[in-house]
Amino acid sequence: MGYTIQDLQIELSAAAEDIDKYIRLNKIKVGKNGSLSVKSYQTLLDLFSDEDSKVNTKKNDKPIYVLNGNKVKVKQKPFFESEDERVSIFHNDAISFLKELPPNSVDIIITDPAYSGMNQRLKLGSGKIIGKYSDAGKDGAKWFEEFHDTEENYKAFLEQCYRVLKNNRHIYIMFDSYSLLSLAPVAREVFEVKNVICWDKANIGLGHYFRRRHEFILFASKGRKPLNSKSIPDVWKIKRVVSSQYPTQKPTEVFELMLKGSAEKDFVVCDPFLGSGSSAIAALKSNCKFLGCDISDKSIAFSKERVNQFLKTKIDIYQKKSLLGDDEAMTKLFLNGKSK
Ligand SMILES: C[S@@+](CC[C@H](N)C(=O)[O-])C[C@H]1O[C@@H](n2cnc3c(N)ncnc32)[C@H](O)[C@@H]1O
Repeated sequence: MGYTIQDLQIELSAAAEDIDKYIRLNKIKVGKNGSLSVKSYQTLLDLFSDEDSKVNTKKNDKPIYVLNGNKVKVKQKPFFESEDERVSIFHNDAISFLKELPPNSVDIIITDPAYSGMNQRLKLGSGKIIGKYSDAGKDGAKWFEEFHDTEENYKAFLEQCYRVLKNNRHIYIMFDSYSLLSLAPVAREVFEVKNVICWDKANIGLGHYFRRRHEFILFASKGRKPLNSKSIPDVWKIKRVVSSQYPTQKPTEVFELMLKGSAEKDFVVCDPFLGSGSSAIAALKSNCKFLGCDISDKSIAFSKERVNQFLKTKIDIYQKKSLLGDDEAMTKLFLNGKSK
């Protein structure tokens, strides 16, 4: 799937002749009917956004949202913004939300999509795959929407992730076994996939044939960026959240480890499938800023309360204790090399 010059015009609110000028000057290949490859589209966005940061643009009529000096212009209004402006949460669909972010504006994406494939393909026995998935809604209604992860949708999602991520930065995407088999090849078309990490949940959960004890995390980059540490293993032993109040709530430590690998102070962390807000808490614990969204009103209300309480009290109301497993390497990482 590619783009057209018209897509660029819409994205940049730029005149066709300005875009033409950049295409000629930079010898960018344009296909029939003005079609552009993903790479050419990205190059043109980069050229325009560089220009944008040098000259104060004529685009000031669009609402501009500023994240503590590190400017991230967002066309939509957040559902919640913390008083210190370090956390912003939006109520939106992941792809629409990403489309509203400027190109090259976030430093790291850490996310855990609600794949529909798993439920469609894994209807075994009662068909109930995710514990408590439907318990909380009235009359068996689901707690949250699933992201319709057809290859086409998934590619559109990843292309938006690529567009908003700065150059030489990392992305971490969580996968169950089924979506890893079907969708990870799509990720390889867009990003440079570097590794697949195994999250070992320490205790077995539900599942037919073999009971599930793990999930995967795909680690990829846009450009080159070394990890912050060479001693992080690719199996992470972190216990699951039990009796969570939001289904599929993940331990903050899973996201904290992603940030230990790739983040720097004040990095803008983005999670377009926010859920209970675990990634937002991990970002705050790692001295980063955070932009996130979710399609569910329960998720954003939950996350707002969790973030607000954490900012006031430093207590994470939905995960009160550490879930680190009894793995020496992991413990060392969390203690920054010091002993207990
Ligand atoms: C697996 S959960 C994320 C759990 C989260 N990592 C946590 O620790 O709580 C996936 C989330 O994606 C949200 N979601 C589903 N479809 C979406 C869409 N199209 N856009 C944005 N969010 C969506 C669901 O509402 C759900 O909260």
